[in-house]
Amino acid sequence: MNKPAIIFNNVSFAYDQTPVLQKGNFVINEKEFVGIIGPNGGGKTTAFNLIMGFLKPQSGHIQVLAKPPKIGYVPQVTHYDKQFPISALDVVLTGVVSKVNWLGMIPREEKTKAAKLLCKMGLEKSCNKPFSALSGGQAQRVLIARSLISDPEILLLDEPTANIDPGAEAEIMEVIRSLKNKITILFISHDFETIIKEVEKVLIFQKKITTLKPSEICDHFAIGLYHDPDIKHKMKRDD
Ligand SMILES: Nc1ncnc2c1ncn2[C@@H]1O[C@H](COP(=O)(O)OP(=O)(O)OP(=O)(O)O)[C@@H](O)[C@H]1O
Ligand SMILES: [Mg+2]
Repeated sequence: MNKPAIIFNNVSFAYDQTPVLQKGNFVINEKEFVGIIGPNGGGKTTAFNLIMGFLKPQSGHIQVLAKPPKIGYVPQVTHYDKQFPISALDVVLTGVVSKVNWLGMIPREEKTKAAKLLCKMGLEKSCNKPFSALSGGQAQRVLIARSLISDPEILLLDEPTANIDPGAEAEIMEVIRSLKNKITILFISHDFETIIKEVEKVLIFQKKITTLKPSEICDHFAIGLYHDPDIKHKMKRDD
């Protein structure tokens, strides 16, 4: 039976007076692979911050059922400073700062695990390179390795394939695909085709939140024409 992993129950949130989410509802089950789409400013990144507990809803309830929730997070590219003067390996290790021992050191087994994860991402030659010297696609893969080092049960990916070339995108999708059915994955993307092909459920964020099957998604969304998903003028995919 499907066991819920994340529940939003009538969740409303505003940073100031302008509402970002209004009475949003959805249920994500354990080990589900969920795509999240919606226009710029639709509230997708905000929802991740609500799930992680960095923000609190003004009304409604959010339940993250793993206790304590083990969440891996890959931030939207615009939200990190790539000039940070540390190596790729050290960036991965920032995912386990809670494991620093009484000597102020990261245990050796965590370093080995970080190196193995970078190998899995095809970055074995880049472990000791400065993070700032990596390409966009390589940097994204380092951040995915960081999100995985704590063995998360829930993985939040905020546009992990944005602004990178198709080759790097394919490699990142391969890594994400290998996690399918193993952990719960929430994947924000403006890449409509990828969403349709890969995920089991789609959430559309436009102040309200609508849950659809990938096959029910309107082709208008693919070209950025977001409209009320309830309106029944669905374009046929072979039109
Ligand atoms: N820290 C903040 N303070 C005030 N307003 C914010 C803050 N972060 C986001 N907003 C506003 O909240 C709304 C939702 O933003 P959010 O980043 O969640 O959208 P998004 O769906 O992730 O958009 P995008 O596709 O562009 O990443 C936007 O109008 C944005 O300007
Ligand atoms: Mg965003």
